[in-house]
Amino acid sequence: MRVLLLVTAFNGLSQRIYGELKAQGHQLSVVLGGHESEVCQAVSQFDPDLILCPFLKHRIPDDIWQQRLCVIIHPGIQGDRGPSSLDWAIIEQQAEWGVTALQADAEMDAGDIWATGPFPMRPASKASLYRREVTATASKLVQQLMERLAHKGFRPEPLDYQDPKVQGELKPLMKQPMRRIDWLADDSDTILRKIRAADSFPGVLTELYGELVYLYGAHPENELGGALPKTPLATREGALCIATIDGAIWVSHMKRKSDAPQFKLPAAWVLKAHLDGVPELAPPLLPAKDAPGYQQIRYEEQGEVGYLHFDFHNGAMGTSQCRRLLHAYQAASRRNIRVLVLMGGEDFWSNGIHLNHIEAADNPADESWRNINAINDLVKAILLTDDKLTVAALGANAGAGGAMMALACDQVVAREGVVLNPHYQTMGLYGSEYWTYSLPKRVGEAMARRLTEACLPVGTAQALALGLVDKVLSEARPRYLGELIDYCQTLADDQQFGSRLRAKAQTRSLDEAQHPLAEYRRQELTRMHHCFYEADSDYHRLRREFVYKVCPCATPERLVYRSPLVERTG
Ligand code: COA
Repeated sequence: MRVLLLVTAFNGLSQRIYGELKAQGHQLSVVLGGHESEVCQAVSQFDPDLILCPFLKHRIPDDIWQQRLCVIIHPGIQGDRGPSSLDWAIIEQQAEWGVTALQADAEMDAGDIWATGPFPMRPASKASLYRREVTATASKLVQQLMERLAHKGFRPEPLDYQDPKVQGELKPLMKQPMRRIDWLADDSDTILRKIRAADSFPGVLTELYGELVYLYGAHPENELGGALPKTPLATREGALCIATIDGAIWVSHMKRKSDAPQFKLPAAWVLKAHLDGVPELAPPLLPAKDAPGYQQIRYEEQGEVGYLHFDFHNGAMGTSQCRRLLHAYQAASRRNIRVLVLMGGEDFWSNGIHLNHIEAADNPADESWRNINAINDLVKAILLTDDKLTVAALGANAGAGGAMMALACDQVVAREGVVLNPHYQTMGLYGSEYWTYSLPKRVGEAMARRLTEACLPVGTAQALALGLVDKVLSEARPRYLGELIDYCQTLADDQQFGSRLRAKAQTRSLDEAQHPLAEYRRQELTRMHHCFYEADSDYHRLRREFVYKVCPCATPERLVYRSPLVERTG
């Protein structure tokens, strides 16, 4: 089938659907919904059998939905309508929510229903629910949709509010006054909920210490408190602990409200001028998995397996985060374990160097240089670990240097449905993280070149087929974690563990003799130095556009289907 993805942005969900449909043999093309003439042109040129909209905030031009089958993925239960579905579901504390695939119609979200599915809600941000539960459910619905389209007899169900299974309703756009935090009346749970319902967009606007800021990244705090609401109690790893009427909460990120464009930064950076005398709580080197309060890095052990979690906001790893993670990695490596598992974070495994931190630096080129060297030091430590087996457990998506960092591990396992973006060129970078060593070693030189030049997302089926990952585990979290533990325990218990380590050491020393790691790094960094410091590089412009979320003026060429040989004759 020819499927055109009509999307506002080619986001994680769209990337996953793209990869899955492509792996099933469908022909895929993408068009961004922002420009009506481009959409009309894409439809007439590609002549799709189905226009699928996994993430669309724009209206579909009338003559397109009237003449073609257009199906929209709506992050809400049957009958739910409006642009703030998940926001309302969080605020109203729904125990269960859902996703619905509905046909485009004159009225927004009121078309016939092709498929619908529920998911249990979790105390998490809107973006986290979207990246995990909504994305997994949507992927299943798209499979159902494709099966139903294949059965010519299937008729979608009209939306009927008299039907008792239709529980949703039309909800208004949730504006800032509806999100407002009343610091003198709202308890911690209410404030957490309000911030989560607006995270990652638009954030909750509030006034703190005379500044108007949007809040993101809310975490509970169980010990600190006892001060007047809004009092800053402590900072840790850039997050700020703020007193509430019944305790305190952590806020990890803020964005200043201003007429000039702004972007998210660690809360303690944004409010730095007001935090004199506020204690900075140094994070322990290896905090336990269940340690209270806000911690980006956590560690747990089961038998001879160590699990190192690094839950950095948006998977972005700034210079100091890379250094802290390196120290934690080294500390974990000194423990009496056989297998060390890099777990990444809840929503992302890693997305490489921190483009927002770099944008905020006095000298972005210098900060880029420090950041890439800091992440390289970490990757080098992983590559040189000779007394343990290392496992990258990709429970969430990884991109750019983050995806390459995973390949430094001996084993790479992925949760079903995870999307990898093992490339840098869309950011105008050559890349480092020793990718010129790790990527061809797994997929061969030719495929390494294709992956890094095509700049397309890679789903788990393709990643497994290419050898980018060694094993794909179940998608549902509890099953994934159970299978991961079994997998790592089997590695640790392996009778051949000693000989595996010896083989690993031998391969490393042969590789080193052929082409030293230092040489890979030097060659990559020479290219990166050019990207950071030379006038003909696009990196600083592309990074600025990414950080400030400048919409592309056209669909990137790489996402548009180009028939290799023949034009369709109908
Ligand atoms: N630095 C800072 N922020 C980053 C980031 C990075 N390296 N990678 C992702 N983010 C942020 C995005 O700005 C976005 O923030 P928001 O939700 O607060 O607005 C959030 O993470 C999610 O990213 P998004 O692009 O919406 O996710 P996606 O699933 O659509 O795409 C990627 C994933 C990895 C393809 C895309 O985020 C990307 O290209 N990131 C940059 C990777 C990179 O070039 N790193 C530097 C070289 S190592």
